[in-house]
Amino acid sequence: MAVSVYNVVLGIHIIGVVLAFGVVFAYPIMFAIAARQDPRSLPLMHRIERVIDRALVNGALVIVLGAGLYLAAEGGYFKDFFVQWGIGAIVVIGGLVGAVMIPTSKKAQETIERDLAAGGEPGEDYRRLTRRLNVVGGLLSVLVLVTILFMAIKP
Ligand code: HEM
Repeated sequence: MAVSVYNVVLGIHIIGVVLAFGVVFAYPIMFAIAARQDPRSLPLMHRIERVIDRALVNGALVIVLGAGLYLAAEGGYFKDFFVQWGIGAIVVIGGLVGAVMIPTSKKAQETIERDLAAGGEPGEDYRRLTRRLNVVGGLLSVLVLVTILFMAIKP
């Protein structure tokens, strides 16, 4: 059984996908439990979410892109739709994480800290920010799943 550099880079491409996106599908469960069990944990949850988005998601996106570019060049796939889609997906995901998810998570953390310090429940501002995180996060998750399908089907 011959192992080629191409096979190894494909493995690295998929490892990057797992590292970057695995956690994204668990966020809704973690936040739902935190909000129900102990709202005081929400500021810390947002902080963790933001560090993960920066280090894991955006970091591993670079691995996915770098390995993907090698595969596309080596396999002669650049003219294929799935590769163009993949490049577009990376740009959209990196853009939304950097421009929407990270700043919104920071604002949500500050807002819930204020609400909790005032001794109250999570207020309307906080709920609006978490709705945005849920909607954009959900869109990102769907985009990742569709991209995996396109990568496997290779249209
Ligand atoms: C969100 C972004 C991406 C995800 C989730 C993703 C996921 C995957 C997965 C799961 C495979 C394995 C499918 C298979 O082997 O049949 C794959 C293969 C591949 N990916 Fe990606 N990918 C992404 C972005 C990219 C980008 C940006 C490029 C190119 C610049 C790229 C190029 C390729 C190529 C050429 C293959 C085929 C390798 C082969 O089967 O020989 N991918 N991708």
